[in-house]
Amino acid sequence: MLYNQIFENNKRWVAEKKATDEQFFEHLAEGQSPTVLYIGCSDSRVTVEELTGVKPGEMFVHRNIANLVPNNDNNSASVVLYAVEHLHVEQIVICGHYGCGGVKAALKAEDLGQLNPWLRNIRDVYRLHYKELSAIQDENARYRRLVELNVEEQCFNVMKSAVVQKHYLKYGYPTIHAWVFDMHTGELIDLNFDFKQKLEEIRLIYDLGTNS
Ligand code: CO
Repeated sequence: MLYNQIFENNKRWVAEKKATDEQFFEHLAEGQSPTVLYIGCSDSRVTVEELTGVKPGEMFVHRNIANLVPNNDNNSASVVLYAVEHLHVEQIVICGHYGCGGVKAALKAEDLGQLNPWLRNIRDVYRLHYKELSAIQDENARYRRLVELNVEEQCFNVMKSAVVQKHYLKYGYPTIHAWVFDMHTGELIDLNFDFKQKLEEIRLIYDLGTNS
């Protein structure tokens, strides 16, 4: 039973850390200075620290179903604000993944109860890009493209926040990055989101940074 193993695993982990660095936990307790904010899916297969090799203290992490940053979500907004204003992260990453159950559920026209308002954020992405998506004949290819477009739209949502715009215009960071994890290969894919160009574009409508 997995649950019973967890505390055993933890003891082993503590011993391993102390074996390589006796002061490991004293240093860990001193404070964090992560340079990257990662916003990803809660999916149990997308184990970000493991697959990126980052160490404790190096990455500030927020995970929810389908890696969303909705306009009225106080949770992700607080994470972004804290990471930018207090931790001064240099990069913000939105990472989606192929095989995302949240995105798949949003593609189905079905009442999913309490999940509806959350999944509507993805359905809105689908509607926004309906022309491109409906032209893709292969269902799996369309679904994979929606995973990518959802990540990009969440990048836009992060960019629409005043704290991100003001901080970027003043200091030149954080920059925003769109990734997708492909669990069929284990690889992280950089979607090469053109942050500077996209920010210029959206500032025509969403500019909140000029009064800083
Ligand atoms: Co997912």
